[in-house]
Amino acid sequence: MNKKNLISITDFSKEEYLKIMELSRYFEENPNQSLLKGKVIATLFFEPSTRTRLSFETAISRLGGKIIGFSDSNSSSVSKGETLHDTIKMVSNYADLIIMRHPLEGSARYAAEVSDVPVINAGDGANQHPSQTLLDLYSIMKTQGKLDNINLFLVGDLKYGRTVHSLLMAMSQFENPIFNFVAPPELAMPDEYKLFLRQKGIRYFEHLEFNDIINQADIIYMTRVQKERFIDPVEYEKVKNVYILKNEMLAQTKPNMRILHPLPRINEIHTNVDSNPKAYYFTQALNGVYTRMAIISHLLNLK
Ligand code: CP
Repeated sequence: MNKKNLISITDFSKEEYLKIMELSRYFEENPNQSLLKGKVIATLFFEPSTRTRLSFETAISRLGGKIIGFSDSNSSSVSKGETLHDTIKMVSNYADLIIMRHPLEGSARYAAEVSDVPVINAGDGANQHPSQTLLDLYSIMKTQGKLDNINLFLVGDLKYGRTVHSLLMAMSQFENPIFNFVAPPELAMPDEYKLFLRQKGIRYFEHLEFNDIINQADIIYMTRVQKERFIDPVEYEKVKNVYILKNEMLAQTKPNMRILHPLPRINEIHTNVDSNPKAYYFTQALNGVYTRMAIISHLLNLK
């Protein structure tokens, strides 16, 4: 069967990113559809989620489709020892599309190889989270009016944060991005991504602090320190509060600067930022519904 998956953000071309932006805008303006009438979509979450699962399920409902799946793999036969291979093989008999989150890097690519129907990676370990990236692009496009010439600050856990890896790859497709990586050495952007940028001739800078340069940012993308990826809890304790963005730090930022965060946050954005018009993270999460409607429509070629 000729099927298209979304496993890595690089599975889509720049033209497809732009098509998703256009479709997202359409679905934001026309959210109630029947394009998925008669179709069944499976959401298989082997790891916890609030936004990704619920916004995908909202997107499916808004498109008129039906949902099967689980939000806790302990309630499935995985708890009896069923393999990922067999789970995916079975579910691809039942559903027209599979959306999966799994803790193992590479699991989504493996699922796509096994499945007879398209697979969307809803996060595989510290690797990729491409649907998050597309909603991040949509959020940047909506707030900045463009995706070219963006000065993007990525702050926090750049080692384990899969959303920043996917976002870096996507933004590198646009004209003249500048990346500012703000992280302690333990959580620095992995070398493979820095090598990728160097090979493309894209500028990036690494910082331990960002108070003095925050006025350069178009987008500040805060991230949570990913406690669940640390092998040693003592190492997590050392870095868990490394950056806390506070309202008083925003006084000199550009008028159109916006703060994004894939959420959930722990305490890396103080709640006193929430009422600042530059705080965009809750609207960003809402944008996920429209972008996920667009992704599903694109993969299933819904007219
Ligand atoms: N942004 C994101 O992936 O959030 P959830 O873990 O709640 O799905």
